[in-house]
Amino acid sequence: MEMKGKTVVITGGANGIGAVTARLFGKKGAQVAILDYNEIAGEELASEMHAQGIEAAFFKTDVAKRNQVKETAEKVLAHFGKVDVLINNAGITRDAMLLKMDAEIFQQVIDVNLTGVFNCTQAFLPAMIAAGKGKVINTSSIAGTGGNVGQTNYAASKAGVIGMTRTWAKEYGRKGINVNAVAPGFIETDMISTMPEKVIMQIKQVTPFSRLGKPEDIANAYLFLASDASDFINGTVLEVDGGMLK
Ligand code: NAI
Repeated sequence: MEMKGKTVVITGGANGIGAVTARLFGKKGAQVAILDYNEIAGEELASEMHAQGIEAAFFKTDVAKRNQVKETAEKVLAHFGKVDVLINNAGITRDAMLLKMDAEIFQQVIDVNLTGVFNCTQAFLPAMIAAGKGKVINTSSIAGTGGNVGQTNYAASKAGVIGMTRTWAKEYGRKGINVNAVAPGFIETDMISTMPEKVIMQIKQVTPFSRLGKPEDIANAYLFLASDASDFINGTVLEVDGGMLK
């Protein structure tokens, strides 16, 4: 699955799954736009990729801020001239049981994980439609398909992402745009680094492969959905969780 000549936008591209994805797409020949609000990590990654001869550029952006996203889309298009793939990967967690969840942290997670995906897709989709082809890949979660204790806000945002994915697949398929989602299981990144060891053990016990996922497992799923190999796949949610028992 080559990405030669394709321009790929990866939100939350400075760390975790996004950074591994940026490196993988770069190795496959893509020009990579890394969007993130973490400037230090984002600039570092772009220079690391540059040093390897990959065309990568970092654009400081908070996906929850509509104006910033709009400005960034203009900058990305001015820099690379086009966008072939948008990976809406940026996401956060702010966990608490329902009765202890402040309205503020509920909203914060919705703003990034749900509204952020809306903002970025609205900003980048017109260029894909003009080109007559494009791939949008949204990041959901198994918390979005099955719910998860302590994650009212996160599960709501990730279920919402699935709703938007299926809607956009129906709205823009006829314009040559594929819109799909990936629903990761538990993946070894900073996001789950504060989870108690006991819970990690329990997750491994209910995963047939007896391990957590690696960022590469998700990056490979993104690559498939970004490539021509998935041209007839639209509106689907690809669960990448090692077959975890639910
Ligand atoms: P991470 O915390 O390692 O990386 C997330 C990246 O998104 C960071 O670089 C962060 O700076 C960036 N980011 C956060 N808010 C942002 C904002 N408002 N604007 C721009 N950038 C922002 O997380 P990870 O694990 O790599 O997660 C990537 C995606 O995968 C997220 O959407 C997450 O919800 C999803 N996911 C992760 C799972 C896991 O177990 N790690 C499980 C299921 C889904």
